[in-house]
Amino acid sequence: MDPSPLSSVAALQPYIHQALRAWSDVQSTPANLLAFLLVVREERRTITPEHNPVTLRHATNAVLLRGIQLLRLRNPRHAEILVEHFLNDDAIKNIAARKGLNDDTIHRLQYHAITDLSEIILELENDLRSTRALALEALLPAASFDVELIGCRETLDHLGHELLAVRGPWLVNIVGPGGIGKSALAHALARQLLRAFTFERVIWIDAGPETLGVSAGKTELVYREILRQLEQKLFPGTGTVHGQTDQARKALKTAPHLIIMDDLEIETDSPVLLERLRDLCDPTKILITSRARPPGLAGVYLHLHDELPLAAAETLIREFARTKNAGNLAAAPAEDIAAIYQAAGGNPRALKLIVDLTATWSLPQILRDLTTSPHGKIEELYGRHFKRAWLALQPASRQLLRAMPQTGGAGITQGDLHQLSGLTEPDFHLAVSELVARSLLSARGTLHEIHYSTHGLTRAFLQTGMEF
Ligand SMILES: Nc1ncnc2c1ncn2[C@@H]1O[C@H](COP(=O)(O)OP(=O)(O)OP(=O)(O)O)[C@@H](O)[C@H]1O
Ligand SMILES: [Mg+2]
Repeated sequence: MDPSPLSSVAALQPYIHQALRAWSDVQSTPANLLAFLLVVREERRTITPEHNPVTLRHATNAVLLRGIQLLRLRNPRHAEILVEHFLNDDAIKNIAARKGLNDDTIHRLQYHAITDLSEIILELENDLRSTRALALEALLPAASFDVELIGCRETLDHLGHELLAVRGPWLVNIVGPGGIGKSALAHALARQLLRAFTFERVIWIDAGPETLGVSAGKTELVYREILRQLEQKLFPGTGTVHGQTDQARKALKTAPHLIIMDDLEIETDSPVLLERLRDLCDPTKILITSRARPPGLAGVYLHLHDELPLAAAETLIREFARTKNAGNLAAAPAEDIAAIYQAAGGNPRALKLIVDLTATWSLPQILRDLTTSPHGKIEELYGRHFKRAWLALQPASRQLLRAMPQTGGAGITQGDLHQLSGLTEPDFHLAVSELVARSLLSARGTLHEIHYSTHGLTRAFLQTGMEF
């Protein structure tokens, strides 16, 4: 059978036929139940929360009956044949004899009746899906992007596939530096996935330290605050409930939910928080965005979100410039775009800021400010992106980072970087581990040779000599 029964009436029709044939079949199997239809799942929910072949049979039949009632308004003759043959279990030859028609005519009429019924049920299904998608989407925060996400199609498909799979990894962690597009990516994923209707609900938690009101390092407090927010979203209108932890966990364990924890502060040296969150999963999935990455933990799918390559950055700059009516930049020669990329790299938030600043300042001035004397909005951006991490760094890590502008964008081998840093062997190891974990250093290469580099914006920040 067609693997995608909702793609057309013709694709749905064989499923409807099988379901009708099994109208009074107590031994129903997934093949003759229409559990892939949201209308059936909603119907089941109104009958009972229990999920088994018997309740699904009831729900399937209720939907078929609703469809037949609507068919009766469009074509009473077709509806009557379906009722007599499938619901009343009357043989085709009896129906034919009663109507004074031959068997073939009844077969043909029945075929058309099933096509009509499939069309009606597909309409019901599509209507419900649109309404549900809008309702689920309304629970997400407003999108932060004013232009479509650029250069993320493959990542969206890949992570979407991982999150929809009914298996581990149950936790997916998008990691990357400030402004690189983690929240935007998570938002696009949430909107894409809620339309699959695999998840009972899609819950967005703003888990940033300011919003959560708990600082990192206090794992137990962070975990409890997350649970409290989950409870509120799972059982809205019940006030601030305490002690429903078990109930929240039970809900997440019973039906698949997608929970997004945006901007979670991850401890780079302790997997405890993720272990606690992992316990809430299966069948629920959790998508985390964070600037830092956890220490290696089995069962967590790590996606390192990288800066945009030049071509995608160019599209972003030009498109964003158009929305801002910045015609000079939208149509700027490739050299100007290359100069922006050279100075700021492919960090979407920085690129958007540069577009904004061209309304007031010349491009050469902006690019100079970026690497020599940041003030105003640029200073603010650097504070937002680097302050939290900078203050948490060990002295050795700061020393290593300060050496990075000398290395250029192409990357440097481990040996050369060690020499350049002037650090002792143990300090060098500690610094590299910490900087990689905090998305301040990228490690790329083969199994046998790694090159270290920094993102364009990190390099620009370091060139300024600015510290906190
Ligand atoms: N691929 C992209 N295409 C277009 N715009 C993007 C893209 N990625 C990010 N943006 C935009 O860049 C800005 C910064 O992105 P976002 O807020 O997602 O960054 P972040 O990684 O979550 O940063 P932070 O660590 O500070 O939370 C947003 O306005 C976002 O819409
Ligand atoms: Mg974010």
